Amino acid sequence: MGLLIGTSSKMNLTSSEAAAYLDALRPMVADVDDRILFVLLPFTSIWVARDRLAGSNVRWGAQDVHPEDAGAHTGDVSAPMVADLGCTYVEVGHHERRRDYGETDELVAAKVAAAQRWGMTAIACVGEARRGTLDEVAEVLDKQLRRLVECDLARLVIAYEPAWAIGVGSQAAPPEWVGKAHAAIRERLAATGAPGSDVPIIYGGSVGPNEGAALLEQPDVDGLFVGRQALDPRVFAAIAHTPVQR
Ligand code: PGA
Repeated sequence: MGLLIGTSSKMNLTSSEAAAYLDALRPMVADVDDRILFVLLPFTSIWVARDRLAGSNVRWGAQDVHPEDAGAHTGDVSAPMVADLGCTYVEVGHHERRRDYGETDELVAAKVAAAQRWGMTAIACVGEARRGTLDEVAEVLDKQLRRLVECDLARLVIAYEPAWAIGVGSQAAPPEWVGKAHAAIRERLAATGAPGSDVPIIYGGSVGPNEGAALLEQPDVDGLFVGRQALDPRVFAAIAHTPVQR
């Protein structure tokens, strides 16, 4: 399978802005045929992705979903609602949601299950809040993965996103560190006995065009998950074209 290169615009891009963004991006990445590209937009802009990206090589998705399919949950959005908009991916358990809404590993697993029930692939975010030793990090990852490995591994992507590497003022984690963390995740997935070695593991946290190549050269890094730097479509296109030797 090709590398996965995607972005979440987080709470950015109104419908109008998303239209301009996607219209700019689409031709810039039209030649990328050996990688899977995706864009995750706010709920209010997903219909624009369906409109502007249909028939292109860029897939689209949501940044969160409610664990239940329907009901009395004011303000929430369910998996069938985003599936109906043609979403391929649903991100769950991002550090900012765990931090701002206290999302637990149990809730994250329930959201993964909801996305999968509706035929979508869940991108489940894991990662340590504070930089520690590799052993400490492996312990955090092990706990976060415990519920996830019970989900459908064929429709799962793991995003390793250490909180200390995310957002303005942070720097991407060093490639060797990322390689070791991904190896620990791979080992945990393989230990399930299920074909866990196929689950793509992507890295997110301050990825820009200069960081991509070294990260992708790590053996267990199957892709990149880009945040703020991809808000410029030219930068996302450059990252999508990152040359890789491995
Ligand atoms: P960032 O966000 O690239 O802005 O650090 C990454 C992420 O949260 O996935």
